[in-house]
Amino acid sequence: MSEKKIRVAIVGLGFGAEFIPIYQQHPHAEMYAVCRRNPAELNAVADRFGIAKRYTSYEELLADPNVDAVHINSPIADHAPQSIAALKAGKHVASTVPAATTMDECRQLVEAQRKSGTVYMMMETVVYSREYLFVKELYDKGELGRIQFMRGSHQQDMEGWPGYWEGFPPMHYATHCVSPCLALVDKLAHAVVCHGSGRIAEHLIPKYGSPFAIETATFTLRDSDVCAEVTRSLFNTARQYRESFDAYGDLKSFEWQQVEGEPPVIHTRSTPAHQLTEAKIPQRVGVPDYAHRLPAPIQRFTQPAAIQDAEHLSFLQGGGHGGSHPHLVHNFLMACLGRQAAMPDVETSVNWTMVGIAAHQSALHGGEKIVLPAF
Ligand SMILES: NC(=O)c1ccc[n+]([C@@H]2O[C@H](COP(=O)([O-])OP(=O)(O)OC[C@H]3O[C@@H](n4cnc5c(N)ncnc54)[C@H](O)[C@@H]3O)[C@@H](O)[C@H]2O)c1
Repeated sequence: MSEKKIRVAIVGLGFGAEFIPIYQQHPHAEMYAVCRRNPAELNAVADRFGIAKRYTSYEELLADPNVDAVHINSPIADHAPQSIAALKAGKHVASTVPAATTMDECRQLVEAQRKSGTVYMMMETVVYSREYLFVKELYDKGELGRIQFMRGSHQQDMEGWPGYWEGFPPMHYATHCVSPCLALVDKLAHAVVCHGSGRIAEHLIPKYGSPFAIETATFTLRDSDVCAEVTRSLFNTARQYRESFDAYGDLKSFEWQQVEGEPPVIHTRSTPAHQLTEAKIPQRVGVPDYAHRLPAPIQRFTQPAAIQDAEHLSFLQGGGHGGSHPHLVHNFLMACLGRQAAMPDVETSVNWTMVGIAAHQSALHGGEKIVLPAF
């Protein structure tokens, strides 16, 4: 491999700061600049990681010709406008989830990426988590057989989070449960039906006009007879944090653990040729780590404890999201270098995002079916 390095700027330094040490150790990245509006907080992070180039203005960052790629970790409403501006400035773009909050922004993202020819990738953690990589490997080897159905659920209690989260429509942040269902079988979503259920606290409702405690959607897949179901909750629902998916095959099925810390379960179908008692059908399994797929200097970042210790980060959101962060960084950099396609690319990123946008629209209209646009 040549030593070409992509000069990366990270925008938004809450969650975004967790990626700094990974870029700093990656052989094909130069962790060039950071951007945050608050100068004191900007300097605190930049000093801690020894980053010289600092911006409080996103526009000034985009005008810097030394920046090859931006990795956006700003609040949700900014993702699409900042991504579109960066693509127009000729930068490669990695954007945290979701890609956008409206269908029109999704269309603009695809158009801007096509025009610029640079990379756009939504940094979806779930499709690089060790659980997902494990199930994907089983599926690709044929062990699950034909996929018959998939289910994702992402439940979180966001009470007390920053103001923009209050009353946020659950399906506007649905990519963590939508993406594994689509990525596993390498299909895009076609049409969505969603119902809203229950009611959140009255004071939370007006901001986004979204009353539902739970939104639960089913969606069909393009060129497939398989359908998937996803469930989301953010407020006033009792549930331990859960970011999960199940995949049902005709040979084997994978089911996520009930409670954090338990191993997941593989169910094997009993057949006349290979008979199993009911008790033998489910087996708990250990999920391996996939660090060996990464360049050696960033392999340790699949282990959140290692990052915390080495980088003195006080915590990692979501416990490092199944070891996904270094895989995301590596895939993005390899896409910037033209060595492999971004996964997800822009069409896939907006399709995953639009399932949630359409689901919320559907829930607001009594469960009407919404066919997703194809760009
Ligand atoms: N698993 C995941 O994929 C995952 C996990 C956590 C957070 N996220 C996403 O990451 C994003 C950030 O999450 P967070 O918890 O750090 O949010 P946050 O609101 O705590 O932090 C946002 C950061 O963006 C900065 N910012 C805001 N506007 C900016 C601008 N115009 N220019 C430069 N910087 C700007 C803020 O100063 C802050 O540093 C959210 O959109 C969230 O959805 C994704």
